[in-house]
Amino acid sequence: MASIPLKDKDKKVQDTGFLSQWNLFFRQFVKHPGMIGSIIPSSTALVNHILDQVDWANCRLFVEYGPGVGTFTRAILERMHPDATLLAIDLNLDFVAFLESRIDDPRLKVVHGSCADVRRFIKEAGALKADYILSGIPFSTLPKGVGETICAETHSALRPDGAFLVYQYSRFVRRLIDPVFGEVSESLTWRNIPPCRVFRAEKRVALAQAA
Ligand SMILES: C[S@@+](CC[C@H](N)C(=O)[O-])C[C@H]1O[C@@H](n2cnc3c(N)ncnc32)[C@H](O)[C@@H]1O
Repeated sequence: MASIPLKDKDKKVQDTGFLSQWNLFFRQFVKHPGMIGSIIPSSTALVNHILDQVDWANCRLFVEYGPGVGTFTRAILERMHPDATLLAIDLNLDFVAFLESRIDDPRLKVVHGSCADVRRFIKEAGALKADYILSGIPFSTLPKGVGETICAETHSALRPDGAFLVYQYSRFVRRLIDPVFGEVSESLTWRNIPPCRVFRAEKRVALAQAA
């Protein structure tokens, strides 16, 4: 596995250790519980369970919603093709600043904003459609109507046969993704606090439409 170069310009964010990441994550949870949705970052077992589902050789645009302190971000970059792009979108400016100061990889673009604007961010990154979109945002605590918009925008932002990978603590999100995506499969990872559900929603487009 390749290692991800870390930025070292800012002394205040030099400590790349687990504790400082957990500390920032916990403080953001206390400030914005509804936006963060979890008290600690995802486990390595959950990261591997999800990222093992990706066809890395053929992935050129990977989008991550809600990267937080970069638990998935680093692991995605380790697996990603040298010519691929990772677009990470987070609503929390402290997380965006943290990631920008910590990870020095030209394949990573971190943007501050809502993933409801994913299509605009993809366009601004000079790309067309995403191969995969991964989401850890807390769908069950989003303001009314936002989850529906995000799922519809996500479907439009994916290429035909692209996949939306979602990890959540409950099955709430099924009521949002099922009406939009043709095919949804589900699994459960016990080795996470708390145990986490993973949904894989495939964008299936009829041949006539895809042409
Ligand atoms: C549970 S944390 C996940 C953090 C990290 N991916 C992990 O697995 O440890 C949820 C993240 O979603 C972000 N978030 C919440 N709503 C969002 C939205 N509408 N658009 C983009 N990011 C959002 C939060 O700021 C937070 O970073």
